[in-house]
Amino acid sequence: MLSHLLHQRGIDSVVIDLRLRDDIEQTIKAGVLEQGTVDLMTQTGLGDRLKRDGFVHTGINLAFAGELHRIDLHELSGGRSVTVYAQHEVLKDLIARRLADNGDVRFGVTDTTVEGIDGDRPIIRFTHDDEQHRLDCDFVIGCDGSRTYTRFLIPQGEIRTDFFRQYPFAWFGILAEAPPSSDELIYAHSDRGFALISTRSPSVQRLYFQCDPQTNPDDWSQDQIWDEIQARVAGAGATLKSGTIFQKDILQFRSFVCEPMQYGRLFLAGDAAHTVPPTGAKGMNLAIADVHVLDRALGAYFEAKDSGLLESYTRTVLHRVWRAQHFSWWMTSMLHRFSDATDFDLRRQLAELEMVVNSPSASKTLADNYVGMPLT
Ligand code: DHB
Repeated sequence: MLSHLLHQRGIDSVVIDLRLRDDIEQTIKAGVLEQGTVDLMTQTGLGDRLKRDGFVHTGINLAFAGELHRIDLHELSGGRSVTVYAQHEVLKDLIARRLADNGDVRFGVTDTTVEGIDGDRPIIRFTHDDEQHRLDCDFVIGCDGSRTYTRFLIPQGEIRTDFFRQYPFAWFGILAEAPPSSDELIYAHSDRGFALISTRSPSVQRLYFQCDPQTNPDDWSQDQIWDEIQARVAGAGATLKSGTIFQKDILQFRSFVCEPMQYGRLFLAGDAAHTVPPTGAKGMNLAIADVHVLDRALGAYFEAKDSGLLESYTRTVLHRVWRAQHFSWWMTSMLHRFSDATDFDLRRQLAELEMVVNSPSASKTLADNYVGMPLT
């Protein structure tokens, strides 16, 4: 996305990725785009498939204590909504567009090293198609995910990496050939733990349920999976439409932020700098928001020789990052079953959920956070 945005300003970039194009385009990740992400894609010429194949959702449901409650995102947030469109589809759109614009994108690189981020001309070396390459750069942007190499280039005394939380559960995610079980997403609190009914298309559904982080998905039969999710949503009156499960995965739960997100000529974006638990689907949206800020900052640098926005990059993006950290943690803690939870904790969770659906200001807080802060 950053490469695409910079190209539109006439700034050159090279994208180097360890993974192969097919692998990137087939890896299943989250699927909820905030309004700001949708707007940015649309405004920069990436909106065609999104408009055709994405599903605009104007509300979500919270299921708890035997009832389903709708949160009207659109009305509560003053006309904003979310779009269900898979992250790997966003990547397909971006890759196709960069290649159509003759962008320099190298897949399957190995042996990447970066030197000189504290000077004016950092160097990236890597191997691609069995040839060694050297790039002399103005800036290096580390968008290399939670297993980042670039974050470790920042000297230890210059960065804090102790903003971290590990959760004692994970999500079991499935993709299934089945009709939708609900018109809108259902986030379910239950005695058996959390479950989430999402969707991908009229014939493919995405569902999740809270599980032990050590779970081996192969230990679960198709029937066991459907029965478990059904048991978690039945109390609220939802009935699943089951079908053939063709993919199973386990999503780990972590919260993490590093500060600052820059050093010299290196800037970190997305999961290289921060990770959220999946509840609330903020991960990709945060990454897009980071690079939107970087695009403007690099634009000011190259177009007006003004480095102010680059210098304030961390401060600018951390505001949104911590908002999303709080929101993802809040949704997680309100909806999941903690193994050490007492009856007091369960009643407290239900009281919180009651407040969220019954208090207009609390519903609005959830809606505003769910649709996301505008990008400007
Ligand atoms: C999806 C993922 C999420 O983390 C979420 O909160 C909602 C939906 C999804 O993959 O569809």
